[in-house]
Amino acid sequence: MVPALAGRAGCFTAFEKRWAEGQKRPNHGRHFTDADPASHLSLPRQMLELSKQGRVASQSRARIPTQSSNTEDHPMGFFSKDIKSLDDLFVHTLRDIYYAEKQIEKALPAMIEKATNPALKAGFEKHLQETKGHIERVEQVFEMHDVKAKGVNCPAIDGILEEADDVSGEIDDKQVLDAALIASAQAVEHYEITRYGTLIAWANELGRADCAAVLEQNLQEEKATDKKLTEMAESRVNLQAAE
Ligand SMILES: [Fe+2]
Ligand SMILES: [Fe+2]
Repeated sequence: MVPALAGRAGCFTAFEKRWAEGQKRPNHGRHFTDADPASHLSLPRQMLELSKQGRVASQSRARIPTQSSNTEDHPMGFFSKDIKSLDDLFVHTLRDIYYAEKQIEKALPAMIEKATNPALKAGFEKHLQETKGHIERVEQVFEMHDVKAKGVNCPAIDGILEEADDVSGEIDDKQVLDAALIASAQAVEHYEITRYGTLIAWANELGRADCAAVLEQNLQEEKATDKKLTEMAESRVNLQAAE
């Protein structure tokens, strides 16, 4: 049973937290199957039994900082009822990518430090400078749209960056590490590409072709970076990692 439990560790950690907070847990959310020998026990006993078997994550994973001084308190705003129109949604998503760009700006120096392939290192350095420009362009769009420039927490980019940090921390081989860094960077680029693509479409729908044109510049740089990463991976880094 043990191998199948690896993927459940996060669920148990969340469960432990909820249990500690004394919240009621509905039956349909239980993480125990009928086949589980502990399933006939009360929930606290189940936790105890599973802990004894080493099947409950005892520590939550270290998290990268996710709070920014210019973010709102609620994570995404999806449940705040603040988003009443496409314009509101546009502003919310602009704040999401603003937060994401700032998190990426914070994460890139560590990726530069870890990269061993000179071309990859230089590529990350270049993209750090581009990312600073992306932040400025998003601020420009806030201003053009006459709304305050601020971020909203984005668990999606936090998760991508956290995973990148976790995986790279597990690798000693330099070439394999470079391959992992490229894969993580491409996950980041694809997130940015989807956000900018959506924002551009909505800006045009809202009659703001001027905002769309500014965002398009960011999108093109994200796409170019993604393409370069693919070329690097296919031409050298993956080949070296496989040796
Ligand atoms: Fe960016
Ligand atoms: Fe990017």
